[in-house]
Amino acid sequence: MKIIIPTTPVILLASISILQSCTIVNTKDMKSKPLFEPPVSYNEAMNKADSLVAAMTTEEKIMLIGGADIFYTQAIERLGIKRVFMSDATMGVNLRDKFYDKSRDTTIEYNQAIDSTTSFPAAISLASTWNPDLARHYAHSIGEQCRAAGIGILLGPGMNMYRHAQCGRNFEYFGEDPFLAGKMIEQYVLGVQETGVIATLKHFVANNTDYFRRKSNSVVDERTLHEIYMPAFKAGIEAGAMAVMTAYNLVNGEWAGQSKYVIDSLLRKELGFKWLVMTDWWSVYDGQKVIESGQDIEMPYTIAATNAQELLASGKVQESDIDRMVKNIIATCVAMELYNKKAEPEKYVPRFANHENHALQTAREGIVLLKNKNNLLPIRSDTVKTILLTGKFTDKIHKGGGAAHVEGYDNISLSKACADAFGTKLKIRRNPGRWTIANADLVLLSVGTEDSEARDRPFELPREDSVFIQKVLNNNENTVVIVNSGGGIDMTAWNDKAKAILYAWYTGQNGNVALAEILAGQVNPSGKLPISIEKSFKDSPGYGYIPEGEELYTGWNDDDENQRDVYDIHYDEGVLIGYRWYDTKNIEPLYPFGFGLSYTSFEYDSLSLSNNKPNGDEEIMVSFTVKNTGSRAGKEIAQLYISDPESTVLRPLKELKNFAKIHLQPGEHKKITLNINKEDLSFWDPNEKKWTAESGKFQVLIGSSSRHIWLQSEFDYTNK
Ligand code: BGC
Repeated sequence: MKIIIPTTPVILLASISILQSCTIVNTKDMKSKPLFEPPVSYNEAMNKADSLVAAMTTEEKIMLIGGADIFYTQAIERLGIKRVFMSDATMGVNLRDKFYDKSRDTTIEYNQAIDSTTSFPAAISLASTWNPDLARHYAHSIGEQCRAAGIGILLGPGMNMYRHAQCGRNFEYFGEDPFLAGKMIEQYVLGVQETGVIATLKHFVANNTDYFRRKSNSVVDERTLHEIYMPAFKAGIEAGAMAVMTAYNLVNGEWAGQSKYVIDSLLRKELGFKWLVMTDWWSVYDGQKVIESGQDIEMPYTIAATNAQELLASGKVQESDIDRMVKNIIATCVAMELYNKKAEPEKYVPRFANHENHALQTAREGIVLLKNKNNLLPIRSDTVKTILLTGKFTDKIHKGGGAAHVEGYDNISLSKACADAFGTKLKIRRNPGRWTIANADLVLLSVGTEDSEARDRPFELPREDSVFIQKVLNNNENTVVIVNSGGGIDMTAWNDKAKAILYAWYTGQNGNVALAEILAGQVNPSGKLPISIEKSFKDSPGYGYIPEGEELYTGWNDDDENQRDVYDIHYDEGVLIGYRWYDTKNIEPLYPFGFGLSYTSFEYDSLSLSNNKPNGDEEIMVSFTVKNTGSRAGKEIAQLYISDPESTVLRPLKELKNFAKIHLQPGEHKKITLNINKEDLSFWDPNEKKWTAESGKFQVLIGSSSRHIWLQSEFDYTNK
């Protein structure tokens, strides 16, 4: 079967020859050892920690289980234990110069070795590239910037799953699919840690809203935790991540940072995490629980654990419990040699130019072309003589708010990038009248949301923004809508009227250059959505998480948060988040997971499986070809989904289990081979407490998105 993907139609140039086929093999490794091993082994570091702990007083140990000056660990100089600086993380390195600590009404000033860091595209933009190699470069760059600044522990990657569009921190995360997130995070961890900086997987676990984030109780069943909310953490841990941050929220009735179930059972025992666990900032309330939970360090201070002396005296906790915490803190720092490292601006600042290139490349590959009627894009220089640029983020570059915010330097606004690309053809107007809109050959309309930590934001745009969008679209049909947002927004009212839509997320300090390159056709878009965008928020599996009678607040509001009671969020959709929900419930999203157009077209063909009757652990190699049938070189992301139509439990209609991103010249085709194994067929059985693959029929679906499946086959699996 040969099907042309409904992308922008292109004329095949007769002169293009069919290039030689080559093979891309993308197999998932069997993880026998972590991708990253620290310079000092775990055992050696633990031995060192043992001897240091033996030399400490009880007071010193208690001091170490809390932080210092908001972003440091505590020091014991006489033992050579130095302060270690930590900083955020999810759009580059947040280089802090000062921090107002409300709890103590003091401002702490940080004397930094450097005065700025590169602002990168947001993590959701990185996820949209579906390019794990790029994730490694991106993260390696961030690691090197940490080395320049003397940051030993990077407080990222953020990696909670996208349960609904309104979560204010979606931009910091990797989308709705655990497999895609896991593949990107694996390389992210490797990229950061190979520079000698520790990566922190955050926020463990089920932290999927920022609506009164310290008071939300995620009520979520075990199967869902294992299949949806834990796999990306598992991938990070298996890659060798050396720190995990617990979440603000409660999980099934207990705050994650002091929950023995979350830390000891799920993180330590099931996922086998042995290194440093830290709390999120000001997120625990009971010293005894913190100490008993498997937690190691309370940030930014020991507030809950200030009563450690009393707890020890009364015999409620033992000194060995404190020793366990201190040893983990020290062993982690020793293994990565953090006590011996200093800021090295001379060595690493000269590499910033290289980092800027990785930031730019991420924006190029992360921008998603959602619509392109009549090939409005790329902009044709022969017929388009006047371009009007207007809307929300023409001058301001939004970067996501909160701990993730990175100001960057040499920021390039959309106005500047477009002026450079289109010269005198471009007119920039803040509030253009109907005549100005109608008289442009083409309009670039910037829309979006300013998402931030500590608050969710509505799926719907503010009324005045919607009115303006309608005004532009009603007056000029040749409009390209450019969306800057950290997640999905409501586009239903104007989607049909817009000829072209580019979903650009938050592009960082130089990402508007990538946008202009795509508009002008110098770069062929290749990003694909790591989320589904629904038609109405009511369609979303997360809908209804705000308690009845309450409304979304705007602004950071820790004070109100302290006043209010805990509220429950029932994860009633279970394992059906994102496309798993829309597919299984037969709800059509506006744009499906995995979707994104190109300026060229691709054709899928020749599916074959190496084995139609696999047993036990036998792998299946799935091969097919992808051909570029258009007239431009382009990148395609081929996706492999598995469907289990004969199951004793409810399973999503399909689940992503592998993918490959390939570059094809016009006329070129490549054979792609992707493997699948028993793990890909399994679900978590909460009764047996293990992964189970049932014997029976499975389908392999190959597509260019979760809803554009071009090739299909099946096999009979026997579990023996
Ligand atoms: C955020 C964390 C961050 C920490 C330190 C908290 O508000 O939730 O993600 O790492 O602050 O900045």
